Amino acid sequence: MRLNNSINEYGLVAKLFHWLTFIILLIQIPLGFYLVRLDFSDLRITLDEIHVIGGILVFYLTLFRLIYKFFNKSPRFSPEIFIGQKFISKINHFALYITILTVTISGIFKKLYNGEKLDFFLFKIRIDDNFDLADKFYEIHILSNYTLIALISLHIFAVIFHKLFFKENILKRMT
Ligand code: HEM
Ligand code: HEM
Repeated sequence: MRLNNSINEYGLVAKLFHWLTFIILLIQIPLGFYLVRLDFSDLRITLDEIHVIGGILVFYLTLFRLIYKFFNKSPRFSPEIFIGQKFISKINHFALYITILTVTISGIFKKLYNGEKLDFFLFKIRIDDNFDLADKFYEIHILSNYTLIALISLHIFAVIFHKLFFKENILKRMT
């Protein structure tokens, strides 16, 4: 398997970025919804810490992924694909990246404006609290999470749709 992307297929690095993000999000989204229902307890504090570590990991992964993508273009679409499909797919991927960044950055600012110290693995940050802004960023966190769930559903639906109606297995480009 090639390390970098070729014209027809994703390379190992892009695949690792994709599936690692997928696995973390698979845990991170339900964990977030579960967390907010819990009363204050040691379990809640631990899960909250795990949620922050998972979220910051996704934030770094997405940044590195976008930098990598800039230098290593994604494979071309198959020639049979029509222009509209190409456009929808590009928009979906772009929206996924933007939404993942919005989810993580809003979570980060919600915590920071709560007056909490945040560990970014290599350094720590603390700023003055501002609870109004913390609430605003939390609203963005929730909204962007629902957007992310919708976009991921659309993305998976597209893979199934291609298989069923175009008899094209696009999944093999990413596995
Ligand atoms: C991809 C990354 C992330 C996902 C998918 C995610 C998802 C979620 C979800 C679904 C909720 C529940 C929202 C609700 O219904 O009220 C939540 C809550 C929360 N998230 Fe995230 N989150 C992510 C990253 C982060 C990051 C990086 C931080 C902070 C550094 C963060 C901080 C919070 C906080 C403070 C809450 C409220 C929990 C509480 O009340 O203690 N999240 N998150
Ligand atoms: C958390 C869930 C997921 C996210 C956030 C996500 C995100 C992405 C993104 C951003 C790309 C574009 C890569 C590029 O920059 O070129 C992509 C490509 C792809 N994803 Fe996902 N993905 C997720 C789950 C899945 C799942 C579950 C499947 C399989 C059913 C899948 C199959 C694919 C395939 C086949 C491609 C390549 C599409 C092409 O050939 O152009 N993804 N994904």
